[in-house]
Amino acid sequence: TEEKPLLGKKVLITAGPTREAIDPVRYISNHSSGKMGYAIAKIAKRLGAQVCLVSGPTCLQIPYYTDSYVSVESAKEMFEAVLEKYKEYDILIMCAAVADYSPTQSAQEKIKKTQDKLILELSKNPDILEFVGKNKLPGQVVVGFAAETQNIVENAYEKLMKKNADVIVANDARKAMGSDENQVYLVFRDKPTIMVEGKKEEVAKELLKRVCELL
Ligand code: PMT
Repeated sequence: TEEKPLLGKKVLITAGPTREAIDPVRYISNHSSGKMGYAIAKIAKRLGAQVCLVSGPTCLQIPYYTDSYVSVESAKEMFEAVLEKYKEYDILIMCAAVADYSPTQSAQEKIKKTQDKLILELSKNPDILEFVGKNKLPGQVVVGFAAETQNIVENAYEKLMKKNADVIVANDARKAMGSDENQVYLVFRDKPTIMVEGKKEEVAKELLKRVCELL
């Protein structure tokens, strides 16, 4: 219907940062607050969808507007949660700021301050968006994000192709992380790029409207 274009559709959204353990008390992470992904979940629910939110650690309330909420910490945990569920969903929106690398070995005990220099070796994490993009089922729509600090749209187009997504939501990482507003470029495979600006809920509304057109 007009007001509930996502009725009967299932949407899976990832949100927030991931934490990659260095030792039992320390981690590597980033400034994602989860606000953008949670806003998408809220609007998707309002538009009639059944919503699953897979969230890294945030300061946000566990939302009342999801049908399923999975709390994860590391990129590997997020990957496993998405892997287990993604086939059941019509729309996959990968909004989380997943760490690209994690410590090759996380120490069993707290690392002591005995050395003047400490070298941390990092290994590449699985790319969740790339996995779902390349393994998507017929009819599934895959939305990725791209957080850049330069050449925002060009880099987004590259990610769209490399990860086989249907849309990339490109934004400036410095402005987007943590704030209540966002300015994004919706980059499609064969349609002109659209700029959307406003509160994260308004951006979510426009994004989901465009995603409905791809279903
Ligand atoms: O949480 P907020 O404070 O509201 O901020 C919102 C946001 C800036 C985090 C969000 O709008 C955003 O841009 N999210 C994606 C951040 C990111 O990790 O971008 P990226 O360009 O590094 O990654 C590209 C895409 O690949 C993303 O869809 C990401 O979820 C995905 N990815 C990345 C690495 C990885 N190992 N697995 C992935 O799935």
